[in-house]
Amino acid sequence: MCGIVGIVGNREVAPLLVDALKRLEYRGYDSAGVATVRDGKLDRRRAEGKLANLDRRLGEEPLAGHVGIGHTRWATHGAPTEANAHPHFCDGVAVVHNGIIENFAPLRTALIADGAVFHSQTDTEVVAQLLAACRKQGMAPREAMQQTLSRLEGAYALAVLFDDQPDMILGARSGPPLAVGHGQGEMFLGSDAIALAPFTDEITYLEDGDWVVITHDHHEIYDHSGQRVERKSQISQGAAYVVDKGNHRHFMEKEIYEQSEVVSHTLSHYIDFAEGRVKFDSAQIDFANLDRLAMSACGTAFYAGLIGKYWFERFARLPVEIDVASEFRYREIPLAGRMAALFISQSGETADTLASLRYCRDNGLTIGAVVNVRESTIARESDAVFPTLAGPEIGVASTKAFTCQLSVLAALALIAGRARGTLSDEDERRCVQALVEVPRLFNEILAAIQPQIETLSRELARFKDVLYLGRGTSFPLALEGALKLKEISYIHAEGYAAGELKHGPIALIDETMPVIVIAPHDRHFEKTVSNMQEVAARGGQIILVTDEKGAAATTLETMATIVLPVLDEIVAPILFALPVQLIAYHTAVFMGTDVDQPRNLAKSVTVE
Ligand code: G6P
Repeated sequence: MCGIVGIVGNREVAPLLVDALKRLEYRGYDSAGVATVRDGKLDRRRAEGKLANLDRRLGEEPLAGHVGIGHTRWATHGAPTEANAHPHFCDGVAVVHNGIIENFAPLRTALIADGAVFHSQTDTEVVAQLLAACRKQGMAPREAMQQTLSRLEGAYALAVLFDDQPDMILGARSGPPLAVGHGQGEMFLGSDAIALAPFTDEITYLEDGDWVVITHDHHEIYDHSGQRVERKSQISQGAAYVVDKGNHRHFMEKEIYEQSEVVSHTLSHYIDFAEGRVKFDSAQIDFANLDRLAMSACGTAFYAGLIGKYWFERFARLPVEIDVASEFRYREIPLAGRMAALFISQSGETADTLASLRYCRDNGLTIGAVVNVRESTIARESDAVFPTLAGPEIGVASTKAFTCQLSVLAALALIAGRARGTLSDEDERRCVQALVEVPRLFNEILAAIQPQIETLSRELARFKDVLYLGRGTSFPLALEGALKLKEISYIHAEGYAAGELKHGPIALIDETMPVIVIAPHDRHFEKTVSNMQEVAARGGQIILVTDEKGAAATTLETMATIVLPVLDEIVAPILFALPVQLIAYHTAVFMGTDVDQPRNLAKSVTVE
């Protein structure tokens, strides 16, 4: 889960490498480094911590050269120290790496037995050592690469520089993505198209097992067996987006405020606003002939899927089998009968989600993917792609991608309901009308609740533990609320189905543990009120997130009651996500944490 970049340029590349790394910081940000080749010599600058530290280091000690590689790290093997930061050097070879070399331990032992001396604790260094050993035996760069790759196991993307090759970078992909960018007399490598957006929008994606040679004016791609292959180039959309914070303090805040617009874009892909109906032809999956739908995802995307499960089961009467991808992939679920599979991923690169997808594909299922990055591996390996049009999400804690995922899942559940004859025309029109109002409501609700939540967050920041409760589709939202809060404020938080309260968490309730209850006035409301009574009876403090009807119907004393308008059940989870996001955001801002890049996390998780 690191970001890598390489440039064979015709100008000084160190500032360009840093610029590209800034766009890759979402992949990891605990240390960074760049290396160049010049006059037959490799040189590098590396720094612990955020990219700003590397930038400063380069200001003090500039690095010259027109050809170079760069890296931003999310540590797997070895602490985030300068010695473990990439690029790793060995006898005229420089390597940056994203992913994990699973057999690094036996390789390292064998190399040490042959006299190699290691300077870091990383798995990456074995790649540099292997390449250097091949070169010492007289192999040319291509042969050394082929030979080295054949010895590596695991998931990796690599970029390699040699001191005696002033116009060449080698790249390789086995798992995590790697893209070639085509410039004017310059060529690029990057973990994604957004990293390369300032330089070019013409991109060629390597396929799994490919490796590539780039020089300033051309590229050659080889597959895992060493055969020359052609991969089509495409014009990436990544370049169309400007990645900056605008008037906002953090990307997360900007992304929360963008939701009205991006959800509107996303919905218009699936809904015919003029007709007031779902676009049936956007289905691409034969929902009418399914007995079961398998779904899987990680993190926030998983919670979107959990909400989707309620919708598919309610509106389309389609049973859904859902699990986090890290479990799904190893459960050996029998995948027989008339079944399709749907995967949800913002990045489209999450390793566990991709492995679950491949498991389903190997079992012959039709594969659908709800993804934000259309050029991603998950999108490319799916039969049907259902895009979320959220634009690049930079804040590590997902917000707009989540509500866009919900929008797609809601529309798909309606499409499935129509296909299966379980949704009346009238219900379809009612649900579509409710969805059409979502973008406007985003803005109205934001303006209405933001000041209250900002004040409330100051109080919340005093606590060490917070419990979130909800029923029905508010249960996954409770899970998402707890995840958001712990991710960015580091306050310990748990989400529970409200009905589970008395099966354990109630033991924790006292005045030191506020309980955030998400309870629109839906068919579960009365039951959730009973659970709130149980909390109140034990001295617990309640923050109630409800709608106008719910607020009018409860007399319980609360620490705060956040009131949304009365919403149709299909849009309630999409809009109730707003208070959940704002509570986490403002609490973290008040506590002074690094909201966009919380400690230990990364946005794109391309390792298991
Ligand atoms: C990481 C991110 C989360 C995200 C999850 C799944 O944990 O920090 O925000 O929900 O990965 O990522 P994906 O790209 O597959 O949606």
